[in-house]
Amino acid sequence: MTDTATLIPKPPRKLFVKTYGCQMNVYDSARMADVLAPHGFGPTDTAEDADMVILNTCHIREKAAEKVFSELGRLRALKMKRGFLLAVAGCVAQADGEEVMRRAPYVDIVLGPQTYHRLPEMVAKAARGEGQVLDTALSPEPKFDFLPEPKAEGAAAFLSIQEGCDKFCTYCVVPYTRGAEYSRPQDKILAEAEALAGQGVVEITLLGQNVSAWEDQVGLRLAGLIRRLARIGGIERLRYTTSHPADLDMELVDLFGEEPKLMPYLHLPVQAGSDRVLTAMNRGHDREDYFALAERLRRARPGLALSSDFIVGFPGETDADFEETMDLVREVGFVQAYSFKYSARPGTPASSMPGQVAERIKEERLARLQALLSEQTRAFNASCVGTTMAVLFDRPGRHPGQVVGRSPFMQPVHVENGAEFLGRVMPVRITAVHPNSLAGEMAGP
Ligand code: 5AD
Ligand code: SF4
Repeated sequence: MTDTATLIPKPPRKLFVKTYGCQMNVYDSARMADVLAPHGFGPTDTAEDADMVILNTCHIREKAAEKVFSELGRLRALKMKRGFLLAVAGCVAQADGEEVMRRAPYVDIVLGPQTYHRLPEMVAKAARGEGQVLDTALSPEPKFDFLPEPKAEGAAAFLSIQEGCDKFCTYCVVPYTRGAEYSRPQDKILAEAEALAGQGVVEITLLGQNVSAWEDQVGLRLAGLIRRLARIGGIERLRYTTSHPADLDMELVDLFGEEPKLMPYLHLPVQAGSDRVLTAMNRGHDREDYFALAERLRRARPGLALSSDFIVGFPGETDADFEETMDLVREVGFVQAYSFKYSARPGTPASSMPGQVAERIKEERLARLQALLSEQTRAFNASCVGTTMAVLFDRPGRHPGQVVGRSPFMQPVHVENGAEFLGRVMPVRITAVHPNSLAGEMAGP
């Protein structure tokens, strides 16, 4: 990037990235900041004093996409007042890039999830006043090859190992916005993990839209990769997300019983409990398969906690189908879950299926499901009081001396007077439950 830039000041420059949606976007936002750092961009946490603003967007549900356009409206006023470069990245950019440029002509750059390694060129172009820049090509390989080494931001880090999805669930835009499945090669992943460990990272969460489909050219699958990552010095905890029930091979299931560094917590979206709906969703498994998988996981690792995603009001879902979802939740038991009203996404097969469900019915079903799921979360958290858990302390708390960490089950845990334990895994006795976290005290070394 040259310094002839006219629309932004010379370095040092301030970059504000706002992230919507999934953890993959959180990872991507950090990588975009890494790519721009050598060009003099340092982070700021508000648009008010930024020289460049990036919205890293999510397209998964209608509401998520709408949020982007309302945020753009707000930024427009600010941009007219003080001027900065405005970029829209991520999945809305990928799916509706042209529309973003048309509806928001004050946006300077529109880039898809696979092109952010080219951000410096795009910034240079936009800053020269050459008009709106659009780059939404869809091949993932070059991006990973051009990314600088990641900078860790604490003791827990994400590592993207897989992108894209070939599953084509009938409601989902991901196969269109993120493209075909791609697995990063093993040596690149191990090198990134070593680099993170060298910067004090203790816990790594492997990321992929369909992470259990990860496979190296030599036929190595995710279980083998996790075994190798577990041998890296300094890495004490491993997780992976998001996996698909139909792709979870038995070696991976059994690994929960064999590899103590693999945390006993798994996000395993099921979406619905009725076979009819699962078939219409093209999920590739039925209700019994999910029960069998949950049971085998818990046999491999007693106490393993499951979380999940649910969609209510999929086209054609009857009251009886919905009751089967409620029944599945009662049967399996989840410690944590995300649930959504079905949202018709343009271009997906489900959006033109007959039997679209009325909004009012979706709302009623969602409220009932969420009440049940919250009750399960509450009961699980309450059952933790009096137990001792290994907590990784990864950030300071609100009061002086307070530290916050996470339990093996992803619960936030607060401890007073623990500043010296930041960045370490420590045994903690849980003493109380709060609405969104647990409180505890050090249980000794
Ligand atoms: N409508 C509602 N929820 C959806 N999800 C994906 N697509 C849709 C849609 N069209 C949910 C699924 C998925 C999560 C990331 O978002 O539950 O697991
Ligand atoms: Fe979407 Fe289904 Fe792929 Fe998940 S598995 S990203 S829900 S298509």
